[in-house]
Amino acid sequence: MQGIWEHAQAAIDTIRTRWPGTPRVGLILGTGLGGLSEQIETEATIPYHEIPHFPTSTAPGHAGRLVCGTLRGVPIVAMEGRLHYYEGYTLQQVTFPVRVMRALGAELLIATNAAGGINPQLDLADLVLIEDHINLMPDNPLRGVNDDRLGPRWPDLAEPYTKSVMAVARKSALEMGIHLHKGVFVAVPGPNLETRAEYRMLKQFGADVVGMSTVPEVLVAVHGGMQVLAFSVVTDLCLPDHLEPVEVPKILANADIGGKKLARLIPEVVARWAAEA
Ligand code: HPA
Repeated sequence: MQGIWEHAQAAIDTIRTRWPGTPRVGLILGTGLGGLSEQIETEATIPYHEIPHFPTSTAPGHAGRLVCGTLRGVPIVAMEGRLHYYEGYTLQQVTFPVRVMRALGAELLIATNAAGGINPQLDLADLVLIEDHINLMPDNPLRGVNDDRLGPRWPDLAEPYTKSVMAVARKSALEMGIHLHKGVFVAVPGPNLETRAEYRMLKQFGADVVGMSTVPEVLVAVHGGMQVLAFSVVTDLCLPDHLEPVEVPKILANADIGGKKLARLIPEVVARWAAEA
């Protein structure tokens, strides 16, 4: 029977006919953050539908193509457009691109997302370094028979976000004058936003930011033995007693402002990480 391993091999066979590089970094560009890929010296752009077994992206602000090239001289593949559970994909489909990045050789996953700010100290368009997470998605991409070629049955999550890479991110942000909060990200299935009662609950759980992505990809990256770095851009404020209806154009506008800061920060982090690693 063909499984994820075989499907990832088929995908990389196709990608390699278009781009012969070996990426060190895999980058996932979240909602409204696709502009980050302009920083990449692009050598190939491959639409998802041309890659075997790749699901195609439908969410607003997501282009649906793999950008291959270098960032500050470091080989990278970037997903312009991620896949979400709420689009109807299984979490194995959502995370398949991370398997492919790993199979191509990527050592570090950098995930970005648009998120709601639960911690009242957060403001619109702020950047948050995700230091830990809470998984409230109703499924897990690692559920099912484990393929030991992909990773261990019971991956440890004591440190899913790599401390040394987070230190590089903090130092870079400080030196560049970019304010970088830190916090706990909670993943919900979506597509609806949360009720006031749910925001109160999530705050009590210890979450600082909430979003509909990232945790599945991080689980698969950890399973595959990758280092992980993740950022949220705060696109709406989730203050239960002052809640305003969320409008997608406003979310995308705030993602754009935060995304410009990430577009400065991430290349610097990648360059420093590559020099150290
Ligand atoms: N909740 C869940 N997901 C989100 C939010 C939110 O408030 N904002 C952006 N993604």
